[in-house]
Amino acid sequence: HTPSPVISAVSAKSYACQRRTPLKHHNLFLTEPLELLAENAELGENEGRSVAFRRAAAILKTLPLAVKRMEDLQGLPCLGDHSLRVVKEILEYGSSQEVESTRHSEQFQAMKALTGIFGVGVKTADRWFREGLRCPADVAKSEQRLNSSQQAGLLHHEDLSQHVSRAEADAIGQIVERAVQEVLPGAHITLIGGFRRGKETGHDVDFLITHPEEGKEEGLMPKVVQWLETQDLLLYQKTTRNSYLESKEGPARPPNNMDRFERCFSIFKLERRASGEAHSSAQATEGEPGGGEGRAPGPEPLPQRRPAGWKAVRVDLVVSPFSQFGFALLGWTGSKLFERELRRWAGREKNMSLSSHALYDNSKGCYLRASTEEEIFSHLGLDYIPPCDRNA
Ligand code: GTP
Ligand code: MN
Ligand code: MN
Repeated sequence: HTPSPVISAVSAKSYACQRRTPLKHHNLFLTEPLELLAENAELGENEGRSVAFRRAAAILKTLPLAVKRMEDLQGLPCLGDHSLRVVKEILEYGSSQEVESTRHSEQFQAMKALTGIFGVGVKTADRWFREGLRCPADVAKSEQRLNSSQQAGLLHHEDLSQHVSRAEADAIGQIVERAVQEVLPGAHITLIGGFRRGKETGHDVDFLITHPEEGKEEGLMPKVVQWLETQDLLLYQKTTRNSYLESKEGPARPPNNMDRFERCFSIFKLERRASGEAHSSAQATEGEPGGGEGRAPGPEPLPQRRPAGWKAVRVDLVVSPFSQFGFALLGWTGSKLFERELRRWAGREKNMSLSSHALYDNSKGCYLRASTEEEIFSHLGLDYIPPCDRNA
């Protein structure tokens, strides 16, 4: 059995950033189980294992056909023994025991439900799990001390556990555009994250804001937030200085303007009418405490008071200086695996350090300038991959 030329072409490319990964593909029956194992590993803080499963899923997303037999996989990179075992079992029996027992395990379901609360990370969820909590309603009933993001997360959990639609993302976009124009005329906003990659729904909406005159963007975030607050459009916000400073991403940061790179995690109060789904979406969520996850064992509703007229929506805002715009755009468009693979490619194959701020060539000892994503791919010696094909 000789692999098809298409598969051979894929096989030479072991980094996801070398390949086109569309949103819709032919192997969901394999990638969903592998990504479930990846998620479970993440919830167990086993990052290496999680990335291995995600890479395996990503290669299968690039195939032009559904996998039928193990031989179809010959010569493909990124498929470790464990992933191959899972794939084999699914091809032979229709499902994998390991995947199904994980899917139904109390720990996986509880960790997923608890980390599904905005503001709750794996460490907190794990502590709560060991204290006997299993779902958001348990947390609400318990006497846990909650920080302000967790309080907001719990209060708006029902809304936040619903997907954000493209129409809602567009409605939020108009609000952000308006806010930004009010406080800094001439500023640009760009939709980033999953919606830029063509996703039809998301867990949040992400925007990048910049101004063509370098420096004008300084101090913009607090003004935007203040404007939104005076319009009663925010339910929660936390503005942080560039978190990249504290991250472990390496030396790829220009030394001076780091503190200009700001991020705001927020929860918007979106008029249901504004997103054009006034009726259907209000009715669909009625009487379903716990939202889409549907795993809350008890009928106990969360202590949420929500006038039917609005929906809480997670929104991320990022402000970048114009000189870093291309890097910020590339770095915040995702997917997370695609970003990870770009940085790994840069480091391992090119001796460069890539971040959402800059690209540093370690061999030449200098930063490589770029104002577009195309230029960054080109510096990295990669074919340009458009956002819709970065769904690794
Ligand atoms: P959904 O929101 O689930 O639909 O998918 P998404 O791809 O939009 O995910 P998310 O909103 O979590 O992140 C969007 C992009 O921003 C991803 O590429 C992330 O890697 C990136 N991102 C998220 N947080 C950070 C951060 O703290 N720093 C940087 N540099 N990038 C981040
Ligand atoms: Mn997003
Ligand atoms: Mn986000």
